[in-house]
Amino acid sequence: MKKFIFVIITFCFTVPVLLFGQMEVIEINNPVFKLRSRSPVIFSHGNHMMIEDLSCRDCHHRFENGINVLDEAELDSDNKDIYCRSCHTGETELKNAYHRSCIRCHDAMIKKNKSAGPRLCGECHK
Ligand code: HEC
Ligand code: HEC
Ligand code: HEC
Ligand code: HEC
Repeated sequence: MKKFIFVIITFCFTVPVLLFGQMEVIEINNPVFKLRSRSPVIFSHGNHMMIEDLSCRDCHHRFENGINVLDEAELDSDNKDIYCRSCHTGETELKNAYHRSCIRCHDAMIKKNKSAGPRLCGECHK
């Protein structure tokens, strides 16, 4: 019985760590940027998922007729279609997709006097 409880406890602790631990911090480093002038970006995905009032669909999308129909269940790291580069192809388009998503939201938070993320180049490209 003790052993059984131990297994249950171990399971309860390791499964969430396996599910969320691996994507707590992501290095955004797309091979499409061949003539790189800036460093890859360390993105604290885990912290962003904790921000109050932010949902997965504020950052992730799949549009049909202009409506974001993405189901959160699609958001699996094995699903290649969820990565920004799978739709925003080409260096300029992909760079704009990240900048518009990241910086636009940080700007909007500052305008609302909320704590926000960085807007200066060197704060993301370290
Ligand atoms: C603040 C924006 C933001 C929020 C909120 C967010 N994500 Fe992400 N997520 C990203 C970005 C950016 C990436 C990197 C995608 C890329 O570079 O192609 C990513 C990547 C992922 C990946 C791939 C992980 C990996 O290791 O590469 C998964 C899975 C994922 N997100 C799931 C989720 C789920 C589930 C939620 C909601 C609970 C969520 N995300 C909320 C921005 C966000
Ligand atoms: C399944 C395809 C798909 C994926 C994956 C995807 N996008 Fe998009 N995205 C679109 C489409 C379609 C639009 C709307 C029209 C357009 O700009 O092409 C759009 C629009 C946007 C816009 C608004 C464009 C603007 O100029 O205002 C931003 C910002 C953006 N995406 C960022 C991202 C980021 C960041 C990721 C990865 C976390 C991502 N997208 C993943 C298809 C996708
Ligand atoms: C939808 C809104 C939103 C989007 C999109 C978003 N952020 Fe943030 N970000 C925030 C907010 C809010 C904070 C402040 C969190 C806090 O400390 O309370 C933040 C904080 C940060 C920080 C500093 C704190 C930390 O967790 O490291 C960095 C760096 C950062 N963001 C990078 C990014 C990058 C890179 C992207 C795009 C891939 C991005 N953010 C997209 C809302 C957003
Ligand atoms: C909020 C975070 C953030 C800020 C601020 C930011 N960037 Fe980026 N930028 C990104 C992310 C994320 C990528 C995608 C990185 C990758 O895939 O390697 C990117 C990609 C790029 C790229 C394409 C990759 C390369 O090296 O050719 C360039 C150029 C770039 N950024 C320049 C800038 C400049 C210049 C500024 C300031 C005006 C800036 N960025 C501010 C997040 C940011």
